[in-house]
Amino acid sequence: MNIRHKYLPNLSDLQENGFLVWPLKSGLGRLAVEAVQDFYDQPLADRAALVPDGFDPMGYTPSEAETDDLLAMRSKVPASFTGQRRRGYASFDFLATPASIAPSGLVGSPMSLGDVGLQRRVAGVTASLRQLASHIAFALWDAISAEFGAPGWPRSALSGQTCSITRLLRYRPGELEISKAHTDYEFIALIISDEPGLEVRNHRDDWSSVDAPSGCVIVLPGDMMGLATDGAIGASVHRVRCNGRLRHAFIQFQGLAYQTALDHPAMTTFGNHLCGMLVRGAPRLAAAHAAGLLPLSFQPPLHNPVGVKAHVF
Ligand SMILES: [Fe+2]
Repeated sequence: MNIRHKYLPNLSDLQENGFLVWPLKSGLGRLAVEAVQDFYDQPLADRAALVPDGFDPMGYTPSEAETDDLLAMRSKVPASFTGQRRRGYASFDFLATPASIAPSGLVGSPMSLGDVGLQRRVAGVTASLRQLASHIAFALWDAISAEFGAPGWPRSALSGQTCSITRLLRYRPGELEISKAHTDYEFIALIISDEPGLEVRNHRDDWSSVDAPSGCVIVLPGDMMGLATDGAIGASVHRVRCNGRLRHAFIQFQGLAYQTALDHPAMTTFGNHLCGMLVRGAPRLAAAHAAGLLPLSFQPPLHNPVGVKAHVF
C-alpha cells in the first residue's frame, strides 16, 4: 500500500506553521541523503568541473571558502565564482527538463556527473522526488481550490515541462552561521537533509526549528503558493542555522510551466520570474546582462517583486 495516496494536505497546518511534513516512499530519504553526501565527497576539483558556462544558469556554484580553496590550488576559477553576494554554501543545480527554460534565451544543459554510478543514483532520486512533488502540488492545488477558490493559473501549469530545479546543497561548519531569511520562488519545495538546521517563521513571526521525522520530507510553500491563495497561505520565510555541523540537503523545487501567466502587476510569466532570479543570482549572468550581452527574451526586474529578499544588478 502506498501511504502517499491516503495522505491529504492540511491547509490549516500550512497556514499556522509555514510547512508540511509528508511521508516518503520507503528508503527514498536515505537514498537522497547518501547521494548528496557522495556528491560532496568527491574532490573539489571534480565538482568545480561542473561549473556552468555560456548562458547556462545551472551547474555547480562553490561556497566562498571553496572558491578560496580553488584559488589556492591555482585551479580555474570561473568569473561566476567571484560575485559579491555572500552565500555561505555550495550548490549543484539542474533541471530535469532543461528545455523548460528555453523561452528565456538562457540555455539549460542536462545534468551530467563524471561518476556514472552517482549520476544514475542522483537521477533516480530526482525522478522519484519530482513525481512526489508533482503529486503533492496537485493535492494542494485541489485543496486550495476547494477552500479558497481556484488559483489564477490552471492545474495543468503543474505538469509537463515545469521549470523545476533540483538542488544538491552543502553547508560546512565555519562558513556561515546562519543563512539569509528568504522565500523560494516556486510553488513548493521538498527538503531532505541529514542534519537539523532549517528554521521557519510561523504566522506569529516566531522562528521554529523544523526537522522531518525519519522517512518524511519537509514541504515548504513558495511565492507561487502566496499568489495562488491571494496571500491566505504565504510563502514560507525560512533560513538555515548551521550549529557548527556539516549539513547536506537534497531539494526538489516544484515550479510552474514557463508560459504560465501570473496575476501580479510586476510579473509576466512564471518562467520570466524564475529566470530573472537565475540571472540576478549568478554574478556572471548579471554582469553579462548589465553589459547587454545576454540574449534574454524579456527584461528581468531589478528585484524579486514578491520575495522578502532582493538582489540588485
Ligand atoms: Fe530556500
